[in-house]
Amino acid sequence: MEKEIEEIKKTALRQLEAAKNPGDLEQIRIKYLGRKGELTQILRNLKNLSIDERRKLGPLAQKLKRELEEKIKQKSQGFSVYNPSFKVSPIDVSKPGRKISIGHLHPLTKIEEEVCQIFLSMNFSVVEGPEIEDEYHHFDALNIPKDHPARDAWNTFRIKNSKILLRAHTSPMQIRYMETHQPPFQIIVPGRVFRYEATDASHETTFTQVEGLMVGENISLANFKFIIEKFLKKLFGEKTEFELRPSYYPFTEPGVDVYMKWRGRWLEVAGSGMVHPKVFEAVGYNPYEWQGFAFGFGLNRLAMIKYNIPDIRLFYSGDLRFIQQF
Ligand code: DAH
Repeated sequence: MEKEIEEIKKTALRQLEAAKNPGDLEQIRIKYLGRKGELTQILRNLKNLSIDERRKLGPLAQKLKRELEEKIKQKSQGFSVYNPSFKVSPIDVSKPGRKISIGHLHPLTKIEEEVCQIFLSMNFSVVEGPEIEDEYHHFDALNIPKDHPARDAWNTFRIKNSKILLRAHTSPMQIRYMETHQPPFQIIVPGRVFRYEATDASHETTFTQVEGLMVGENISLANFKFIIEKFLKKLFGEKTEFELRPSYYPFTEPGVDVYMKWRGRWLEVAGSGMVHPKVFEAVGYNPYEWQGFAFGFGLNRLAMIKYNIPDIRLFYSGDLRFIQQF
């Protein structure tokens, strides 16, 4: 029996020495210390021996058990995945980790923030309004009565048998703001709008506008031109070329469209004009006392120019290959 213990010690230590990974170690543990392990059997058999033999062999076997347990523990610590000299682990600690994506702003959000910053720097306030509107704020108060053909210019999404609709432009916020504030003031209103239209590279059923409104004494088209020039040059650079062309909107007199030169072509970027006296009357302002200009930029259009985006439908596509470029 003594010899057997001696033998186990020799082979076990040799095998431990040669163990190359946690799997080897586990096999050795089972072989000697497992439920049916060689050393376990010996310990279990001690009770069948004479008292003298038991006194001699008991401590010997116990000592070997502790020694093997200790060695296995030491060796397994050497196999820790944090030990760079250990090459057999299934975990390759030198491999670069998987990058955690923390997300970022959508290009439309980015340009909206930039536009707001520029107007804030020119002392404008930023306000927001409801996406669901009523006919009065969306049309009537903007000098577009029920039978006015200009109503067709906005293909609105309507709710059956109801007077509410999804706003097709941010201009109703001119009315809402003036109903509750007195001039002088200057505001911009970024917001999402909805149109019942067929989609193509430059048309979407939803997009974002930035409305602007400045009302005071002696405000003129020259003031408008100054503000618009400052704005466009801050957003697109000092070399930006733009033009104001006559246009028509029921809520302006005169109406003006803002064109910007981009890649050798003139592109419309905003509708605008001097606020129509009828609009001032609708909110209880005296049109002989107050003048103002208003404008509505298509934010998607500005983003398309700024970031070279060829198709407006990409904005809401949810395609990560597109979004991740910004
Ligand atoms: N609301 C117009 C549209 O969606 C754009 C516009 C034109 C806004 C003239 C204005 C304005 O504030 O004065 O087409």
